[in-house]
Amino acid sequence: MTTFRVGYFVGSLARASINRKLAIALTRLAPTELEFTEIAIGDLPLYSYDYDTNFPPSAKALKDAIASVDAVLFVTPEYNRSIPGALKNAIDWASRPWGTNSFSRKPSAIIGTSPGKIGTAVAQQHLRSILAFCNSPLMNAIEAYIEFTPGLINDDGEVTVDSTSEFLANYMKEFHGYITRVYTAIPRTTGEYRAQSAS
Ligand SMILES: Cc1cc2nc3c(=O)[nH]c(=O)nc-3n(C[C@H](O)[C@H](O)[C@H](O)COP(=O)(O)O)c2cc1C
Repeated sequence: MTTFRVGYFVGSLARASINRKLAIALTRLAPTELEFTEIAIGDLPLYSYDYDTNFPPSAKALKDAIASVDAVLFVTPEYNRSIPGALKNAIDWASRPWGTNSFSRKPSAIIGTSPGKIGTAVAQQHLRSILAFCNSPLMNAIEAYIEFTPGLINDDGEVTVDSTSEFLANYMKEFHGYITRVYTAIPRTTGEYRAQSAS
């Protein structure tokens, strides 16, 4: 059985984040071939290119964490019809210094939840644009805009509505298939892949 390591970003810093609940639910519902680790973004200072010659430990840890996984999953809220500043800041750190963009050739997927009816759709569109520029092969479908109703997911990441649980399980099955296809085209073990990853 081929396993893939997935690093997930939670775009919210809030203690009671509904997106963190969603992230935990997704790790529980995913195929066993996917292994998860959270990539933390809360301790990063605000990015400036002044740091490019000497990244602080938290930013080096961020880039190391991304390098150690096969794919990344973004689970993000929508703030003012875009992604939260904390998540954009983390992406900016990981994309630099120039020539060492951590997302290049790294498969990704986006999902998010909001109490609003459109379930983070606008933020996700912005994030798609950012990840395209960062040269991340991004899963186009299934799109997943989750309207969070009270009690939908408990603190343990248990989904209380069967249809949502099935949808999320299928989303993760699709992501597993997508990662598999990317690495079937360019296997992880080839020198070609390693060279591209470093760019
Ligand atoms: C600064 C701010 C901006 C927000 N803007 C939006 C928005 O544009 N669209 C939306 O659906 N919800 C918006 N919300 C409500 C969030 O969806 C809600 O707070 C949600 O719980 C955030 O996810 P989290 O709990 O994972 O942080 C906003 C909340 C905050 C604090």
